[in-house]
Amino acid sequence: MTKNILITGGAGYIGSHISELLIKDKKKVVVVDNLSTGYKRLINKKAKFYKTNVNNFKKIKSILIDNNIDSVIHLAASLIIGEGERNPKKYYKNNVFNTKVLIKACSNTLVKNFIFSSTAAVYKDGNKKVSEKSKLKPKSIYGKSKLAAEKIIIRNCKRNNINYGILRYFNIVGSSPSGKIGLINKGDHLFKNYSMETFKKKPLFKIYGTNYSTNDGTCVRDFIHVSDIAEIHSRVLKKIDKINKSKILNCGYSKGISVKEVAKKFLKYSNKNAKIVEAPRRKGDLVEIIAATKNLNNFIQWKPKYNNLNKMVKSSVKWEKYQNFE
Ligand SMILES: NC(=O)c1ccc[n+]([C@@H]2O[C@H](COP(=O)([O-])OP(=O)(O)OC[C@H]3O[C@@H](n4cnc5c(N)ncnc54)[C@H](O)[C@@H]3O)[C@@H](O)[C@H]2O)c1
Repeated sequence: MTKNILITGGAGYIGSHISELLIKDKKKVVVVDNLSTGYKRLINKKAKFYKTNVNNFKKIKSILIDNNIDSVIHLAASLIIGEGERNPKKYYKNNVFNTKVLIKACSNTLVKNFIFSSTAAVYKDGNKKVSEKSKLKPKSIYGKSKLAAEKIIIRNCKRNNINYGILRYFNIVGSSPSGKIGLINKGDHLFKNYSMETFKKKPLFKIYGTNYSTNDGTCVRDFIHVSDIAEIHSRVLKKIDKINKSKILNCGYSKGISVKEVAKKFLKYSNKNAKIVEAPRRKGDLVEIIAATKNLNNFIQWKPKYNNLNKMVKSSVKWEKYQNFE
């Protein structure tokens, strides 16, 4: 059974949700984060926190040994697509090289399981529904760096008898019902940007591209709630630990939702001045990408709790309200 879990990037959006759930589940959680895009206030009070870079081999090794870490969940990364295109070196260093340092630090320790946050951005553009066997051809530097990290993890885990779980997330949205944690960074996040608009005098919900070959002409994504993503981590970790197997799994609901549907839902949470605004297509946006999740659902017996657009929008708006007015 897993007991002592190290979460890299535990001061970030997704890492803080995974920490919250594992702590609720009575696990001992150790967070490593350099706070480059994370926030101290997102770190769970019951977690042990080390402010350090994952590329500090000596420090990481002693953290793993001192805390008897049996499982690592590696989320620390750089993840803004546009920034990656402008500064590929930063992305290869942080996402590829630093992952290599971390996984090497795990050898000759008690680490038995390693979960990695990968992304739908590793898949080739143009396939609507992708399974784990679909063609891999990342378009962005970010996607390329994540795929390179996947390969390093597979190679090193095999060599060191560590079970790996590579989780390819689709679009993560929402916040914890606890109200204590949520998404702070703006980046390029649709739900975050719309949630912030909701509280303006004249909210504008901008849609980039309305003439795509989809049902309503706007891009389609597979949005998944962050609390469900946290649940997936907990269950996958338990399972790989129990059966000593490794897996690559898509993480989504296998349901396409268009940007226009999202914008319309946000209108319901805004004042009467709110408007949807049509803007030209953005370079690099995928038209439609949905996760085939048969493998995930077969591997863990689970029922998502937030597989509903209204719940996802409501939870994002609630967190934003808390940011603005609490
Ligand atoms: N947010 C999404 O929709 C999404 C989708 C697919 C995959 N992912 C993956 O999920 C992971 C977490 O994403 P997030 O949305 O929580 O981002 P985030 O920026 O909120 O969290 C990343 C955390 O990692 C920390 N970090 C970065 N580099 C570090 C380093 N070298 N050493 C120590 N700490 C470091 C940051 O300070 C931050 O707290 C990433 O690996 C990302 O690629 C996210």
